[in-house]
Amino acid sequence: MCNVLVLYYSQTGQLTEILNNMMTPLINDETITVTFQPITPEKAYDFPWKKEEFFEVFPETFLQIPKPNQALPATIKKKKYDLIILGYTVWYLTPSIPFNSFLKSEEGRQLIANTPVITVNASRNMWILAQEKVKKLLADAQAKLVGNIAFVDRNINHISVITIVHWMLRGKKNKYLGVFPKPGVSDKDIDEASKFGEIIKDYVKKGDYEGMQEDIVASDGVRVKPFLIRSDQGGNRIFKKWASIIYKAGEKSPPKRKVLLAIFRRYLVVAIWLIMPIVFILFLITYLPMYRYIKKNIKYYQSIRLR
Ligand SMILES: Cc1cc2nc3c(=O)[nH]c(=O)nc-3n(C[C@H](O)[C@H](O)[C@H](O)COP(=O)(O)O)c2cc1C
Repeated sequence: MCNVLVLYYSQTGQLTEILNNMMTPLINDETITVTFQPITPEKAYDFPWKKEEFFEVFPETFLQIPKPNQALPATIKKKKYDLIILGYTVWYLTPSIPFNSFLKSEEGRQLIANTPVITVNASRNMWILAQEKVKKLLADAQAKLVGNIAFVDRNINHISVITIVHWMLRGKKNKYLGVFPKPGVSDKDIDEASKFGEIIKDYVKKGDYEGMQEDIVASDGVRVKPFLIRSDQGGNRIFKKWASIIYKAGEKSPPKRKVLLAIFRRYLVVAIWLIMPIVFILFLITYLPMYRYIKKNIKYYQSIRLR
């Protein structure tokens, strides 16, 4: 009998739905027991987000400062699992606060130590460096990363920016103004998530994950767009400065933090609508000379290796 644990944090339920579908083939197999366990922050994040609160979480998210989660049930902590699936979403190019806090907690680290782990992330589309941060935390906890699947909004980047704001601030995963595409991961990708469960099922039964990530990639489980690598790297460099300035200022003066966050909010609009298109043009110009480097990067970010 194989014991599989699915641990996750999902605010709107999108990731929960993906994981439920993904795990169906394993749930239907009588030699596998699947347990689902949500990660629950002590102080819940309201959904839909109020504009101020959406930006308020930025410094602590990016600086990966943990906040308390509710303790995991004793039944889960006591057990040794054959495989743990970790489901997370990305906030500000970083694993969300509840998930990051779980990975940094003593009980989280103990649970995943010396255990095969598959990460499943569901984000807008900027998940690449967040996954690198997760890889590092997993290595710190001595967990064995054996697979990664990334679910994203497949619409054009700037369209998905508009639609996610509508979804996050108004709380409805529907077509903004009736003309934009539905935000988030498409219904089709959510429905078809079970194809990854089929792959995982075979490997968990063997107890050997050699070749699984290659199978996941071949099934379109980790699409990496080279321009998004560049944007993620640039975004991380700039966010690092903003996050530490705002966090430090806030320690001394909460009103100053508020003012800086309001400036950051406006900066983000400029970065997305003005700086990103310029970077895109530069990216296109340098695409051919950089081709080999770009290809190498895509391969790396699709993999489960840690540089
Ligand atoms: C505060 C906040 C910041 C976010 N930042 C990013 C981001 O940097 N990159 C990205 O691809 N998605 C980002 N998202 C989208 C989430 O990764 C996720 O897709 C969305 O919150 C729905 O997930 P859930 O309802 O399953 O929790 C952000 C969402 C929130 C709430």
